[in-house]
Amino acid sequence: MTALLEIRDLRKSFAGVHAVDGVSFTVEQGSITGLIGPNGSGKSTTIDCIAGFQKADGGRVVLAGTDIAGRSAHQIARAGLMRTFQTVRVYENLPLRDNLAIAAQQFDDATWSDELFRTRRYRRAAAAAETRARELIELVGLARYYDADAGILSYGQKKLLALAAALMPRPRIVVLDEPVAGVNPTRIRDVEDVLRKLNAGGETFLIVEHNVEFITNLCHHVIVLDQGRKLAEGTAAAIHTDPRVLEAYLGMTPEMAEAEMRGAA
Ligand SMILES: Nc1ncnc2c1ncn2[C@@H]1O[C@H](COP(=O)(O)OP(=O)(O)OP(=O)(O)O)[C@@H](O)[C@H]1O
Ligand SMILES: [Mg+2]
Repeated sequence: MTALLEIRDLRKSFAGVHAVDGVSFTVEQGSITGLIGPNGSGKSTTIDCIAGFQKADGGRVVLAGTDIAGRSAHQIARAGLMRTFQTVRVYENLPLRDNLAIAAQQFDDATWSDELFRTRRYRRAAAAAETRARELIELVGLARYYDADAGILSYGQKKLLALAAALMPRPRIVVLDEPVAGVNPTRIRDVEDVLRKLNAGGETFLIVEHNVEFITNLCHHVIVLDQGRKLAEGTAAAIHTDPRVLEAYLGMTPEMAEAEMRGAA
């Protein structure tokens, strides 16, 4: 196993609130790593700092050997770290194919003049993006909507489209912010299957999610935050039975927590 993403002593405060208070963890190449914790424990701030949507006060964020802390979100995306958002962001009035073409164009090296004059470089990039788009849309199970406007998709399907868009530039890692929040419970399995399939194809994921059952089913490694600090980490099975996690994270007795994890978390 090699560390693809290494977070060292990450810190971020807001007016005296230590939102992230010295967090360190590693995401292994090819893994699905989960980041969980109660409300306000610092999950969103952590991934915002990693992806460049917030500026950390201190710490290192090393992606494939390069410290990317302090770079802009766009630079970090170009370096190979893409993220999706809790509230889904797609172009509702554009077909899926255009949503994906736009996602590809943000990071290809064709200039406006290449595009204007339809240079060979532009045509080559567009053809490669089209192939990639078809492959991804098939993988996330939306092939039959390829030419339909994104607006007709269900909420869960839009999340899958956003995932496909994040994968368009072939990132090294995708950070998913609550991928199943607001998704119909019967569809959560579909998202799980898609992520597992993508992971089997070599994709690496860091997932923030409230749904503990989803995280437990999917993740190889789980990090638990509490009050801006790492409370525990380990395999899903180890986290599941860690008394500190049950008490501090779930705030309940082991029996109650067990029932909660088995049901809808
Ligand atoms: N922009 C901000 N300004 C001030 N305080 C903030 C800001 N963003 C986050 N915080 C505070 O930082 C702490 C961590 O918040 P964060 O949103 O990272 O938690 P979270 O684990 O993502 O919570 P949730 O599960 O509710 O999404 C909280 O106390 C929160 O109130
Ligand atoms: Mg959050």
